[in-house]
Amino acid sequence: MRFLVTGAQGCIGAWTLKLLLETGHEVVAFDQAAELTRLRLIWEGKGEQRLRVVQGDLCDTARVKKLVAEEQITHVIHLAAVLMPFCQAQPVAGGMINVIGTLNVFEAARDAGRPVRIVYASSSAVWGPEEAYGARSLSERDPLLPGTHYGVFKQANEGNARVFYSSNGISSVGLRPWTVYGAGRDSGLTADPTLAIRAAVLGQRFQIRVSGHMDLQYVEDVAAAFVRSATSGLEGAHVFNLAGTVVEMGEFVALLEKHLPRAAGLISAEGPQVPVSYRMDASALHAAIPGLPSTPLDDGIGGTIAIFERLHSLGRLSAVSR
Ligand SMILES: NC(=O)c1ccc[n+]([C@@H]2O[C@H](COP(=O)([O-])OP(=O)(O)OC[C@H]3O[C@@H](n4cnc5c(N)ncnc54)[C@H](O)[C@@H]3O)[C@@H](O)[C@H]2O)c1
Repeated sequence: MRFLVTGAQGCIGAWTLKLLLETGHEVVAFDQAAELTRLRLIWEGKGEQRLRVVQGDLCDTARVKKLVAEEQITHVIHLAAVLMPFCQAQPVAGGMINVIGTLNVFEAARDAGRPVRIVYASSSAVWGPEEAYGARSLSERDPLLPGTHYGVFKQANEGNARVFYSSNGISSVGLRPWTVYGAGRDSGLTADPTLAIRAAVLGQRFQIRVSGHMDLQYVEDVAAAFVRSATSGLEGAHVFNLAGTVVEMGEFVALLEKHLPRAAGLISAEGPQVPVSYRMDASALHAAIPGLPSTPLDDGIGGTIAIFERLHSLGRLSAVSR
């Protein structure tokens, strides 16, 4: 097995690389960023000799095809993307990266000359707002009603993955995270719970820009879901919801203050509810891939605080800025 991880400098990318390297895999890390700074926050460097870092643009079709073919890639974990605010502001540029870039990955797998499996990040943004469905848990059979360009792009990727299986036999798994939190999460609107933890550790005041409910998913669990989906051997074009802990933002702040009483009063939450339904049924994923980790929110917050405190003591935790 030889893995390609796209978006390797990202938050999920860093934890995915860590897990792959810790479990003895050969990995090519691909990102437009030159340095894997997020990985360096969470990983001690064991297995470095099995990591090759390649800087490049996912939109460069020839480059992506050459990489998959020449690096003898057998498994791709495709995470590179731009997030919701970018896609909303610049739909053309966002579509090039999120849709065309994903087509590049699938075409590269098709033309590699050997079987290549793909696991790619879809998103819960394929769902419409809570009101569109009523207060019920959504399974993969429910209708998709994305309300953003980002969500529409992710829906298109799911469709293209299905066609690449029916036309070319490329097996894939698409996973739909909601809000991923943990060390390394610092961009996108839903980074705010993690930024709040960082601010609390630093003793900074911080306002989470959303209120209402979120489904918070610990980044280490999400990375494990990507890696285990890649090694599962599942045939076909699958798409699965991910689920973590649904929490109201006021309750999240209270939990954070329980862990860090010195931060009492520093963190608040004010703003709109994210317009994406937050009740996910993830039983299909757990049936297909049993034994995936599911870190309780309390432990995930505690683990994230521990990482941030360590980084702070080393002078490596920068202030939260907007
Ligand atoms: N974080 C979440 O809560 C969440 C929720 C749902 C879905 N997702 C999806 O999971 C994936 C990873 O998310 P993340 O939080 O790690 O994002 P991130 O923003 O931290 O990382 C994305 C990475 O992709 C890279 N990238 C962007 N454009 C590129 C290009 N043209 N060429 C090469 N690299 C490029 C960026 O440099 C970045 O390192 C994305 O596909 C995202 O849409 C994330």
